[in-house]
Amino acid sequence: MKTKEDAILSQVLTTGGNGMVGSYVDFGIKLDRRALDVTDLNDALFVCRQHKPKVIIHLAAETDVGRCERDPQYAYLVNTIGSYNMALAAKEIGAKLIYVSTSAVFDGSKKDPYIETDECNPQSYYGRSKFLGEVAVKSVLNDYIIARVCWMFGGGQEKDKKFVAKIIEQTKGSEIKIISGKYGSPTYGKDLVGALKKLILQDATGIFHLSNKGSPSRFDVAKEIIKITGSKTNVTEVDPSFFSNIHSESMPNNNNESLSSKIDLIRGWQEAVREYILEEWPTYVKKY
Ligand SMILES: NC(=O)c1ccc[n+]([C@@H]2O[C@H](COP(=O)([O-])OP(=O)(O)OC[C@H]3O[C@@H](n4cnc5c(N)ncnc54)[C@H](OP(=O)(O)O)[C@@H]3O)[C@@H](O)[C@H]2O)c1
Repeated sequence: MKTKEDAILSQVLTTGGNGMVGSYVDFGIKLDRRALDVTDLNDALFVCRQHKPKVIIHLAAETDVGRCERDPQYAYLVNTIGSYNMALAAKEIGAKLIYVSTSAVFDGSKKDPYIETDECNPQSYYGRSKFLGEVAVKSVLNDYIIARVCWMFGGGQEKDKKFVAKIIEQTKGSEIKIISGKYGSPTYGKDLVGALKKLILQDATGIFHLSNKGSPSRFDVAKEIIKITGSKTNVTEVDPSFFSNIHSESMPNNNNESLSSKIDLIRGWQEAVREYILEEWPTYVKKY
């Protein structure tokens, strides 16, 4: 029997549904880039008028940090204009918009984890394009959620191209080199979607930090992955200059991307990374 919750979730439309986070959205209408290119306002309006969702989870974004640095105009087109388009479309049909944003809106100079009300001061084109997406959403809508996350992982071998996946893949090699002095809050895409579901059902609005709890260094995360997989690979820390090329997914000049949340919806990062590896990377776990 369809519950009231199922009925609400069936009226959710998700953009960028084919990505890492989108892979955990198992409700409503999920659209990939072919079905809805968010950079096209007419497309956004048409699709929203057609489906009339009550809530839009806007995941579509250019998340390749290196590409955003090389081609800022493209980053602004997808992440800022695309979000403005989705906000305008949401306003026209009276839908709530959930915009997934990033810890890269902060400058990393704070010693402690960032809270929701801290001042934004992005230092990269990716961060600037996502920050302006936040500004666009807030300027158009009253009924919105801005959900900031950090160091996302999820989607397994097929979809995960980020830090956690790169480390898991390297556990079969002889050595892993980790950039030193970078702190953040890993976010399991599955936990993010679970938290968004709860916020939708509560009809919440506002800015929320929704990373997994904790603020480890990249070295701490790598050591945890070694522990979980049972790998014998040696992990060493190296100076940031070692990875000085523009393709590095680490935010330049940003040593602290960690987040703390005003709400208690998400578990600790170690438990989430453990579940992720055991469930989605089982062939990387040593059996004794
Ligand atoms: N990944 C992270 O570490 C991270 C950290 C903080 C915040 N976030 C945010 O979390 C959200 C979800 O990210 P994710 O990790 O799921 O990223 P993802 O795996 O890169 O997924 C993003 C999706 O957006 C789609 N897309 C790109 N341009 C589009 C366009 N013009 N129109 C429609 N769709 C488009 C991509 O389609 P194609 O597959 O066709 O390219 C992709 O499927 C994003 O808003 C991102 O900024 C991510």
